[in-house]
Amino acid sequence: MSDNFLALAKQRRTIYALGKDLPVAEDVVIETIKEAIRQAPSAFNSQSSRALILLGKEHVKFWELTREQLRKIVPQESFKATSDKLDGFAAAAGSVLFFEDQDVVKGLQEQFAAYADNFPIWSEHSTGIAQYAVWLALAEKGIGANLQHYNPLVDADVQRSWNIPENWKLRGHMNFGSIVAPAGEKAFMDDDKRFVVAR
Ligand SMILES: Cc1cc2nc3c(=O)[nH]c(=O)nc-3n(C[C@H](O)[C@H](O)[C@H](O)COP(=O)(O)O)c2cc1C
Repeated sequence: MSDNFLALAKQRRTIYALGKDLPVAEDVVIETIKEAIRQAPSAFNSQSSRALILLGKEHVKFWELTREQLRKIVPQESFKATSDKLDGFAAAAGSVLFFEDQDVVKGLQEQFAAYADNFPIWSEHSTGIAQYAVWLALAEKGIGANLQHYNPLVDADVQRSWNIPENWKLRGHMNFGSIVAPAGEKAFMDDDKRFVVAR
């Protein structure tokens, strides 16, 4: 548990070895995810981010439908490796699917024509911020997570299975759960190549 932002930012990592023993109650996890998304900024306060939170068997169902879609496109000889990887994701406690509401984006484009080209870009920024906020908020609770992208392959199944409106565009999928094994070392590029400071 961290009590300052940069320590928490360092604590947040991509954790692949996840389990189902959440360190806090499911309701706390749900409220944490909702509040992180609520508090995330968005262009013109448009609040374009949407989320589907899946727990327990619903989370496993997501990975089963992903597996069936992948079975159609992954060569048979490499499917076992793919399927084993999905077993690892299904072993987590739950997942958050992040969407951006395209009706909100279109509405803004109509209302503020001068910025029309920017609203889809800002919507992408908003989902990134919302995803990072959730990732950090989960890390603060001692919950591990990793981010996956099986969209658009799974979009239609997700819409059908959880009655998701068509205007919600799936942007990413975050598995979360208890931390079974920590993340490995992370390399950082040279600051000299990355930052310019003038003063
Ligand atoms: C926009 C974005 C997309 C990513 N997509 C994936 C992904 O599809 N699958 C995956 O395993 N990790 C994905 N990651 C995780 C990155 O690989 C990871 O954040 C990076 O290696 C740094 O490691 P860290 O998260 O432990 O700091 C993504 C991260 C970001 C920010």
